[in-house]
Amino acid sequence: MGIESGFLDELRARTPLASVIGRRVKLVRSGRNWKGCCPFHGEKTPSFYVYDDHFHCFGCGVHGDVISFVMQMEGKNFPEAVEELATSAGMAVPKDTRRTHEEVAHSQSLEDVLAQTQSVWSQALYTPAGRAGLEYLLGRGLTRQTIEEFGLGWAGDGRGGLTNALAAKNITPQMMAEAGLMRLDDEGRPKGELFWGRVTFPIRDRKGRLVSFGGRILGDGQPKYLNGPETALFSKRRLLFGLDKARAAVRAPRPKGAPVTDLVVVEGYMDVIALHQAGFRGAVAPLGTALTPEQLEVLWQVDRAPILCFDGDGAGRRAAARAAEVALPLLKADHSLRLCLLPEGEDPDSLVRSRGAQVVGEMFATASPLADVLFDLLAGGVSNPGPEERAALRHKLVETAALIPDKALASEYRSTLLDRFFETFRRKKGKGNGSGGSFPSRSSVVEAAPIQLDAVQERQRILLALLLHYPEMVPEVEEALCRLNLSDAFSDVRGILLDLSAEGALPETGDALLSALAGQDEEMLVQRVLTGGALPLSFEEKDSSLAVAVRTQWWHFYGLLNFSQFQQQVEHEVARFWQNGGDSAEWKRLQPRLEALARLKRGEMEEHGL
Ligand code: UTP
Ligand code: MN
Repeated sequence: MGIESGFLDELRARTPLASVIGRRVKLVRSGRNWKGCCPFHGEKTPSFYVYDDHFHCFGCGVHGDVISFVMQMEGKNFPEAVEELATSAGMAVPKDTRRTHEEVAHSQSLEDVLAQTQSVWSQALYTPAGRAGLEYLLGRGLTRQTIEEFGLGWAGDGRGGLTNALAAKNITPQMMAEAGLMRLDDEGRPKGELFWGRVTFPIRDRKGRLVSFGGRILGDGQPKYLNGPETALFSKRRLLFGLDKARAAVRAPRPKGAPVTDLVVVEGYMDVIALHQAGFRGAVAPLGTALTPEQLEVLWQVDRAPILCFDGDGAGRRAAARAAEVALPLLKADHSLRLCLLPEGEDPDSLVRSRGAQVVGEMFATASPLADVLFDLLAGGVSNPGPEERAALRHKLVETAALIPDKALASEYRSTLLDRFFETFRRKKGKGNGSGGSFPSRSSVVEAAPIQLDAVQERQRILLALLLHYPEMVPEVEEALCRLNLSDAFSDVRGILLDLSAEGALPETGDALLSALAGQDEEMLVQRVLTGGALPLSFEEKDSSLAVAVRTQWWHFYGLLNFSQFQQQVEHEVARFWQNGGDSAEWKRLQPRLEALARLKRGEMEEHGL
């Protein structure tokens, strides 16, 4: 027995669709109805229409009522969605029917529609009408066994063959529509079969339940692949083609000494199938979109370091960089990735065919850890960078590592990336000769009239001047320093300090730093920071209370330049400090920042007139 249909009718009546959807999607009037940008696929012009009792997207075909909207939007099952809607409508779900399963019955019937469809389509492959499809698949090197194993089929000519075959099993066009097999008119009524003239690929969820189909045209034509629309069963963001088989293969007990089965993410259906046939049973593919965070989480449930394959050309590298960006905020010590860049213009399907399984196996085996390829992806194309480019790239590397929430891992990535940076772009140690060259000579700068700095620049200058006096502080503040937007000349000085720090060549005192740079082009830049502004700095004593005072001062100026981020960061660190049980060395490190923050909050921002 399902949840009483009287109750559901009343629930639907009391929760107007437009207001439920309007809370998540900006809707505008369109005649009697509403329209907006579809929340289920990315779009800029609205093709998502909301009617009295149902919604429909003409872009991706998603379709349903208020209950299925909540199910699809929030990933809830039927009873959960009913519960949520009932609560906000102030209604109580009838108790004894709460656990009953209209939803289960409904999805079972959708599964049945799909299963019947698959059986019609795979049989069609062996009829005269489907012959071209079978020949196409065989021509692409698939064996009959593979075709069988993946349940590939032929969709017919679209003139009602499937509809008639299903009608004989009491399946209506409306049910076909809900299963994602129909094109729909603007009122959501079925108006013809979606798949025709294509070989078909059943799409299964990770437990092997049939949820949709993809179809490929024979030969050239657009669109090359067609996928079923989002339905109550099928969410493209969460699913990966082949995951049911790959999961079983990765988890299967293996004979002693047998190699592990890697989880390998490739781009297309045919890649997955060709790899399986060649013995790589851990292959999966997203469904024609870039990898989503949801898909990554699903992958990590199966393998702690799945291999992502990309074409080695420019587009493939950009796709790899995008995937890395999606993954970074989700990385943990046991949630990582390996990347495999294939020879240009090749995909795993073409490679298996042209070079054989062994070569492909070697490519997978030598896939690189993400940290190692990340630098190449980010710095790709940069050669011989000038100061601005160096600063920008370094900034990007540091920011990229900072996307990883796990502090220890983030710092590993940061050092790996910066090490590669210094290895690759060793700073040229230009010796100034005092005449000509790209920099004016030292004396001409020192004698130059003080530059007029605005308040922000003066804060930047002081921040750097403190570090020039106390280079020992650089490692402590490095990460924060990298995040600042500095004007060009100051950014160069930051670069000098960070370069020295990364090379392990940072002198201990300001004096030593100045003499290390003496006679080099950098000296001029540094002098400008030390003497350039309105408020020359000098500190004479060097005891420990001074060390705290200098640090507090530094963070104070940092906070002036970057208050909200500074505040957030400090509060975050303090929370972590308590979470980790509080350690006195750590507290000491935090103290100058807390003091600086307190000062800033007390309104000392104005006091300096800065
Ligand atoms: P590709 O265009 O890279 O082709 O599509 P492929 O996988 O090498 O296909 P073959 O070898 O020509 O058959 C990769 C994936 O992108 C999705 C499909 O999931 C496909 O498997 N795709 C591609 C679409 O959804 N629609 C398209 O029109 C094209
Ligand atoms: Mn291909």
